[in-house]
Amino acid sequence: MAILELTQYPNPILLQKAKPITDIESASIQTLIDDMIETLHSLPGIGLAAPQVGQSFRLFVFNLSAQEGEITPYKGPHVVINPEILKLDGENLSDEGCLSITGFREGVKRASFASLKGFDRTGKAIELTGEGLAARLFQHEVDHLNGLLMIHRLSSLKKDVFYRWFKKRQHHA
Ligand code: NI
Repeated sequence: MAILELTQYPNPILLQKAKPITDIESASIQTLIDDMIETLHSLPGIGLAAPQVGQSFRLFVFNLSAQEGEITPYKGPHVVINPEILKLDGENLSDEGCLSITGFREGVKRASFASLKGFDRTGKAIELTGEGLAARLFQHEVDHLNGLLMIHRLSSLKKDVFYRWFKKRQHHA
């Protein structure tokens, strides 16, 4: 297993639609999954999508067990391959960050309930449902696979805040 290097905004791989995985059981995909889980656990994050480690595949891993006070059936590492959102409901505004935009946090409006279907690492069809943080995570990660980042979900006012922040950070880099 290996800890993978994270791609950072504005790396173009983060802004393109990722490819579906056709060979879930292949050694290269299984190794990628192991490495992504190890990488996630080395970071202060709860979810990681393949484009964030430079691989344009429809795959994300997550682990919600570190979140205090959240009731979640998703403790320990989980893998979701070729996810499709089935249902979104409700609305919730909450602060969000992204491992590909380190240091930036801002309120993002998301559905408060989300269900999705996909496949686990053995190729078995799975369905996941989540509320609150889990719902937010599912939407954030599926967005990653569609080339969308949390900053694209901000109000225009907050987008301006982000671009000013980014310009300043580049200037000081
Ligand atoms: Ni992210």
